[in-house]
Amino acid sequence: MSMDITNKIRILETIIKIPYYMVIGYTHGRLIYYSTIEGITNIWSLDVESKVKRRLTREPISQVAEPKPDSPYVIYTRDVTKGKEHHKIYYVDSKGREEKLLIDTPSMRIFSIAFDSEKIVFTGATTKDMALYIGKWNGSWEKVQKLSTLTFVADVNDKYIVGHGTLKNNPKTLEIFIYDMETGIMKIYTPREGSVNKEPKLMGTKVLFESNFKGKNRLYIYDINEGTLSEVKYRFKDYDIFDPIEHVNYGWTKDGRIWVIGEREGRSKLFIDGKEVKTPQGFINNAVIVEDKAYVSLSSLREPHRILEVDLKTNNINVVIDNKLPKEIEERIGEVKFIRYKSFDGLEIPTFIIESYLVSKPGPTIIYVHGGPWSEVVDAWNRVIVSLVASGYHVIAPNFRGSTGYGEEFRTLDIGDPGGGDLMDIVYARKWAIENGLADKIAIMGYSYGGYMTYLALGKYPHLWSCGIAGAGIVDWEEMYVLSDAIFRKFIETLFASKRELLRERSPIAYVEKVKAPLCIIHPQNDTRTPLKPVLKYMSKLLEQGKTFEVHIIPDMGHRILTVEDALRVLLPTIMFLEKYMKP
Ligand code: 4NP
Repeated sequence: MSMDITNKIRILETIIKIPYYMVIGYTHGRLIYYSTIEGITNIWSLDVESKVKRRLTREPISQVAEPKPDSPYVIYTRDVTKGKEHHKIYYVDSKGREEKLLIDTPSMRIFSIAFDSEKIVFTGATTKDMALYIGKWNGSWEKVQKLSTLTFVADVNDKYIVGHGTLKNNPKTLEIFIYDMETGIMKIYTPREGSVNKEPKLMGTKVLFESNFKGKNRLYIYDINEGTLSEVKYRFKDYDIFDPIEHVNYGWTKDGRIWVIGEREGRSKLFIDGKEVKTPQGFINNAVIVEDKAYVSLSSLREPHRILEVDLKTNNINVVIDNKLPKEIEERIGEVKFIRYKSFDGLEIPTFIIESYLVSKPGPTIIYVHGGPWSEVVDAWNRVIVSLVASGYHVIAPNFRGSTGYGEEFRTLDIGDPGGGDLMDIVYARKWAIENGLADKIAIMGYSYGGYMTYLALGKYPHLWSCGIAGAGIVDWEEMYVLSDAIFRKFIETLFASKRELLRERSPIAYVEKVKAPLCIIHPQNDTRTPLKPVLKYMSKLLEQGKTFEVHIIPDMGHRILTVEDALRVLLPTIMFLEKYMKP
């Protein structure tokens, strides 16, 4: 099947219009979920009786607090600065009345939020500091505690606020905090020094959280009053048999059982009291349990997101929101494989391979480097990967050291070494793709941390790549540090384990002279996570040195891709550039 560029553009348009779904919560007879069905990341509600859907928000939204059954309102943040990520807090009735501004916060990045029916708690960062705030329904707000580490709220009730963070200032560990609103005291809790503990959920005085303090990541309950800790035990065995490595989400059902989404090798399953809720293979990104129904949003690399209603008594599945893949896209997506290859030091790197039916093997191949870096490619719908595959490229997507999904030891291997071992893993992914008959020529691309790795790979290993595409990338850690707000300064300190001397050595701008392959730079104008300014310097060096490159600065856009138009502005230049530089 040959394909000209106009055809590729038409296919791309079809792919990026395919909606994303994720269930968020339930309140007053309505399932609350994310959807991009009308081209914008929005909150929707579904009346579970009548199955009537309603769009609750108009403009793109940033973050939603998990709805609570006793309040009919949905609380969320929205960027009011054209992508600079300064947020205000809004609410909307789940029945779909008018959206209203709830808290007119001073200019800050709100990076976590939770609420109960009385109050909204959130963490915010300015250039100066990070802090924990409490907001009220009358619109007032109060800064209750300054934060000096990466700290996120996860839940709140009438007495406590809980969350997690690098509270002991050890970049490799996470501790739980319990803030008592009566006394104003924030307690730090860890079951063992050096362990990773996260995502606490409250029920009265009980805190449910994930910890690796005994080795494997498992769920535990800490009782605040008793000061006791117990491991969650399940009535059914399916959870233990599945033996998850990490957990996507979990919580209590109304009658006090534990539900949990366990993850292993990029796929996830839902368990209630240890019993598997049978759903199609893929990745469940969230679940909401309402009485004897489970609402599950899931997808795979070959099937876009759907929302299923599973009857927990009969195991019957009712597709409440379907998402049919057009046949011409389906026909292009080839085999999906999960493999592990050995990197330079013998470490096994879990990797997804997605073949394209449009080209033979070996054929033109893209290494897709995910962002984060504490993130991963799973067996879930991924519009970037699918766009590449449907345009006629095989994709290899390594979960390089530092990725999530494979345990805390693996996740923290990049701390103190970003752009070191993880970059070598990318080089070895290329080696694997060539030696195993997948690739004849290879491009590298990524967004954010993946853009950083792309720049660094092109500068440090210039002979390996046919071309590279860096979206919202990092070129200069030193300058970026100076331009960052308090949370991103802390993020950089954590990632580098405070090794200041590494900032320059690991910056792509130090290797720009060596770049050989054509480079496509795509960068949002108003990005405040990976700012444009250092990239402008990098571009002028490329120009001075006569390198082949093209640049797309996306006006009035920030780091996050929140609309179909944003996605098109990133992916259209990508496809055009590959068309030119990956020609046989
Ligand atoms: P991400 O972007 O890949 O989208 O998470 C990043 C932004 C900042 C940093 C790393 C990644 N940082 O180290 O500051």
